[in-house]
Amino acid sequence: MILVTGGAGFIGGNFVLDWLATSDEPVLNLDKLTYAGNLQTLAALEHDARHVFVRGDIGDTTLVPALLARHRPRAVINFAAESHVDRSIHGPSEFIQTNIVGTFNLLESVRGYWSALPESERISFRFLHVSTDEVYGSLAPDDSPFRETNPHAPNSPYSASKAASDHLVRAWHHTYGLPVLTTNCSNNYGPYHFPEKLIPLVILNALAGKPLPVYGDGQQVRDWLYVKDHCAAIRCVLEAGQSGQTYNVGGWNEKPNLEVVHTICRILDELRPRADSQSYASQITFVADRPGHDRRYAIDASRLADELGWKPAETFDSGIRKTVAWYLDNDAWISNVTSGSYRDWIARQYEG
Ligand SMILES: NC(=O)c1ccc[n+]([C@@H]2O[C@H](COP(=O)([O-])OP(=O)(O)OC[C@H]3O[C@@H](n4cnc5c(N)ncnc54)[C@H](O)[C@@H]3O)[C@@H](O)[C@H]2O)c1
Repeated sequence: MILVTGGAGFIGGNFVLDWLATSDEPVLNLDKLTYAGNLQTLAALEHDARHVFVRGDIGDTTLVPALLARHRPRAVINFAAESHVDRSIHGPSEFIQTNIVGTFNLLESVRGYWSALPESERISFRFLHVSTDEVYGSLAPDDSPFRETNPHAPNSPYSASKAASDHLVRAWHHTYGLPVLTTNCSNNYGPYHFPEKLIPLVILNALAGKPLPVYGDGQQVRDWLYVKDHCAAIRCVLEAGQSGQTYNVGGWNEKPNLEVVHTICRILDELRPRADSQSYASQITFVADRPGHDRRYAIDASRLADELGWKPAETFDSGIRKTVAWYLDNDAWISNVTSGSYRDWIARQYEG
């Protein structure tokens, strides 16, 4: 089996669902269920014996070794993290605790397990660390997209904590020989995305008749990747990636935030027109920019394409249309999420 951490979150949840749709290899899913963890995402697996869910912390140095000894996974895929930049600005402590200390403790637990494996299992074992393009910092408009050789230059508490975790993973390979893989991916979007992030927030606020908040001038450029393409890239790196190597994952889809918001409004105008026939774009509201907001991220994913043959299946147009349709079709999941503490957060962040 494989051990997935953070498998009740946005990307981890999609990964577990896709994994069990394409393989019979069981998944042990370890998740702390913070505000971002949502078991309803995994409701389809409730009676599926191939999915074993354990609520717990990656930093728990009693629980994790016991789980590893009991389930003997052939790989660990580490999605667990605090992941929201705005939250990291307001309260960085959890980011340091989970993303740095938690990753350190997880690496030590895994190293203890791995080093005691029989040789053949030790050689084939993999620890795959899921990271972000934000570790590379910000690009000027004409700069080349980030390559794996770009130095880390993180600008937010979130990206600094992820950069630190990448360094730990690298060091555990070079110092102890742990067979690691690291993926640095651009912005994801798609089903089951917690509505504090731009795309689901805009869809749900639009439908609720609320303002669509856009930071600053809305010209911050992000490289968008449909989440299921990210999951496919991780499966590909897990099976064929070279131990110790880092792979950038991106969609070759650079878009300014404001353009993303307008695209969502256009799709909603078509699929769920407003009762007064006005465009949802009339709800766009510019709000004060995020402190230290990175201007542009762009990913050069050619190593993954050239060496492992991965490329995204979705364009931004096809992926965003699927995403909007998913939010229109999944009221139960949405109302479950929006009835939680998410509301207080959004109120503090965007209203007032
Ligand atoms: N969302 C993106 O656009 C994006 C892009 C590139 C990389 N990433 C990385 O991918 C990973 C997953 O991102 P996401 O968007 O799904 O995040 P998310 O916030 O939706 O999910 C994180 C999950 O981790 C769990 N978790 C948090 N702390 C934990 C701990 N100490 N122990 C166990 N579980 C814990 C949460 O309960 C949640 O289920 C993160 O490492 C993130 O840095 C995200």
